Amino acid sequence: MTILVTGAAGFIGGNFVLDWLAGCDEMVINVDKLTYAGNLDTLKGLEGDIRHVFVRADIGDRDVVGKLLAEYQPRAVINFAAESHVDRSITGPGEFIQTNVVGTFNLLESVRGYWADLAAEQKAAFRFLHVSTDEVYGTLAADDPAFSETKAFEPNSPYSASKAASDHLVRAWHHTYGLPVLTTNCSNNYGPYHFPEKLIPLVILNALAGKPLPIYGDGQQIRDWLYVKDHCSAIRRVLEAGKVGETYNVGGWNEKANLDVVKTICTLLDELQPKADGKAYIEQITYVTDRPGHDRRYAIDAHKLERELGWKPAETFESGIRKTVEWYLANQDWVSNVTSGAYREWVSTQYGA
Ligand code: NAD
Ligand code: DAU
Repeated sequence: MTILVTGAAGFIGGNFVLDWLAGCDEMVINVDKLTYAGNLDTLKGLEGDIRHVFVRADIGDRDVVGKLLAEYQPRAVINFAAESHVDRSITGPGEFIQTNVVGTFNLLESVRGYWADLAAEQKAAFRFLHVSTDEVYGTLAADDPAFSETKAFEPNSPYSASKAASDHLVRAWHHTYGLPVLTTNCSNNYGPYHFPEKLIPLVILNALAGKPLPIYGDGQQIRDWLYVKDHCSAIRRVLEAGKVGETYNVGGWNEKANLDVVKTICTLLDELQPKADGKAYIEQITYVTDRPGHDRRYAIDAHKLERELGWKPAETFESGIRKTVEWYLANQDWVSNVTSGAYREWVSTQYGA
């Protein structure tokens, strides 16, 4: 048995493949374009492991993806590949439309062609699982109920609009063509191998480097944090038992204001790696101009996933953030490869691009 996973040189996909192969021997075909966010260092532990096949390719390349599907005959495709950073979508939305919308369309078409020709039994068992975000639902006021799966889509950034479009395509490919799809909409992830453009790893690394810790606006925006390994276990559970055509919200019931998240990281660093000058990391907090169109609050109602599939997160925010800070302190090699550009040089030497 084999699964094909896209975008698994990235943060969540990388964690997913590591967890998958730690738990079973089912082969993984990993299709990733290796954008700036893709990092094969994350999968270093799988070097020489015949259960993991890495292919550098764009999900929109129907020729390559079609050949891989025909060759490896996966029982499922899990789509993590995306442009994922909201700030980058504001300065340059084009890549987000290209990968998240056009890329997902082409991937769906490649998969539909493969699936249509499968024998009846394989056809019935096949799944296309699309990994999406809570940002498609828009923003919440302080006293609004958390997002449920029936909440109307109201995306506010080019990133969330492109993800919402991809979710709609996935839905339509099920309703029109019968493709057996599943969609997950998850809240903010954090944990090992998180690219340091995102709030939590950025703050950890800036703090250690003595740099400012940038807080957008008043820092009172709320995100609902989930440890990445819990997201991975939710995806495995939905793949295993999710009802075809359904969407499942994934979240950890951990709503936190950004400023509180940053202060928590500072306190952990004060304990785990105190500054030589005896000062507190919190003094590095700096308020900067807010993100345009910044969503004020996200909160996920994950009752459906708990009730129907029996999934629950293993980590609290307190246990997960401690593990995360400890991981960054213990994995300086991964960090310096990502931040120094050495990894990018390796990619161009290795792949000539
Ligand atoms: P990431 O940016 O860390 O990784 C994305 C990966 O996709 C990279 O390895 C990149 O090289 C690859 N990629 C980009 N464009 C590609 C293309 N055209 N073809 C093939 N590969 C391509 O992202 P992430 O944080 O790991 O997010 C993974 C998925 O989960 C995304 O779909 C994202 O929308 C979704 N999601 C993320 C979060 C979060 O908090 N990070 C929360 C909910 C949902
Ligand atoms: O909600 C799920 C989404 O979470 C995913 O779909 C996205 O792929 C992922 O990037 C994440 O989006 P956010 O915009 O919420 O994550 P980010 O880490 O960029 O920012 C988290 C919050 O912190 C947000 O309110 C903006 C704020 N922020 C971010 C940065 C990078 C700051 O205040 N300062 C910063 O320097």
